[in-house]
Amino acid sequence: MADTDFVKVAEVGEISPGDMKTVKVGNEEILLVNVDGNIHACDDVCTHSYASLSEGDLDGEEVQCPLHGAIFNVTSGEVVTPPAVEALRMFEVRIEGSDILVGPAKG
Ligand code: FES
Repeated sequence: MADTDFVKVAEVGEISPGDMKTVKVGNEEILLVNVDGNIHACDDVCTHSYASLSEGDLDGEEVQCPLHGAIFNVTSGEVVTPPAVEALRMFEVRIEGSDILVGPAKG
């Protein structure tokens, strides 16, 4: 994978542990989540219908959709609790100095 696939989306200091933030990369809305100091990047849009997970509740590594309450694990993208059945896509993350870079979707 070429380094040029990674783009700076935020700075580490913008997202404290337990915080999340939505960034746009091209047409993708990506949710950055700081779980215990590690930044994870997944789809911001719920796979069930249309809602921004950044407006939901984060509890550890689980985010709850604000619309119908589905819960996803933000470190794997997996569904923890329905009604969503489809996992979120995860994106590659790189930290360079104080910059957070996001790359292509994993898998
Ligand atoms: S839109 Fe997220 S659970 Fe329905």
